[in-house]
Amino acid sequence: MSTGPQPAIDTSVPHSARIWDYWLGGKDNYRADREAGDEVLRYVPDIAVSARQDRAFLGRAVRFAVERGIRQFLDVGSGLPTAVNTHEAAQRLAPESRVVYVDNDPLVLVHARALLSSSPEGVTEYLEADMREPAKVVEAAARTLDFGRPTALLLLGVLNHVLDGDEARDIVRRLCAPLAPGSLLIVSHTCDHTSETLDGEAMRRAVRSVMERGGTPICARSRDDIAAFFTGVELLEPGVVSCSQWRPDAPVPPREVPHFAGVGLVAGAS
Ligand SMILES: C[S@@+](CC[C@H](N)C(=O)[O-])C[C@H]1O[C@@H](n2cnc3c(N)ncnc32)[C@H](O)[C@@H]1O
Repeated sequence: MSTGPQPAIDTSVPHSARIWDYWLGGKDNYRADREAGDEVLRYVPDIAVSARQDRAFLGRAVRFAVERGIRQFLDVGSGLPTAVNTHEAAQRLAPESRVVYVDNDPLVLVHARALLSSSPEGVTEYLEADMREPAKVVEAAARTLDFGRPTALLLLGVLNHVLDGDEARDIVRRLCAPLAPGSLLIVSHTCDHTSETLDGEAMRRAVRSVMERGGTPICARSRDDIAAFFTGVELLEPGVVSCSQWRPDAPVPPREVPHFAGVGLVAGAS
């Protein structure tokens, strides 16, 4: 864990956490982030809706985990604090929940205090770490979480920053390896799926344009490629779908957004 001196932040380069914050209506973003965010909005006007639906999915998936008895959460690529962070979603239902956040953006570290406002009964911890070093993430998280008990591993909007599919699947496999039976793998990912309401080609153009600007590399994946992250775990109903349509609360689900999600159960559970 790192909570020492304040890190240097290059505000001239667009960064994922800050673009995401911009789309979510936050204030922790700079001109380069807003310009990159606007560029994507030109191609995919629904992208800000996507970001908000992803956060709503987070709330439903955390509730699903709590209802299954899970009290430990490892949120990798947690992003800047925003409305209803993972520990808030978990601890308002189960105050004893233990939550570890991981992110590699120094700005998230600056705001980490907001992520550390745990309920008195629970724990929240923040690690500045890179998920491309999964062994280090697991080792550091194990100081707070007991991997002998079920844990929800959240990888929301973060695997889209690992362009190589084999590397991304390897990260997921290695982060899942220590999880006890009954644990959940929760993934959401930018998706270039085409349907009646989604334009996959527009998403691919937006991604190319962001890549040309520099900053955090990003990719969109197909629904099948996102489903492949669940190899070795049991992908639960309804499978990989638009995050807005994963077990929605409303009887009429919100429309599809170009950000897909799924939840898988680590084998061996009853
Ligand atoms: C698009 S935001 C998603 C935030 C949040 N999970 C959500 O869904 O609302 C992606 C986050 O992943 C972080 N990130 C990107 N690459 C990472 C890596 N290699 N290791 C850890 N975090 C990473 C970024 O800094 C950013 O905060």
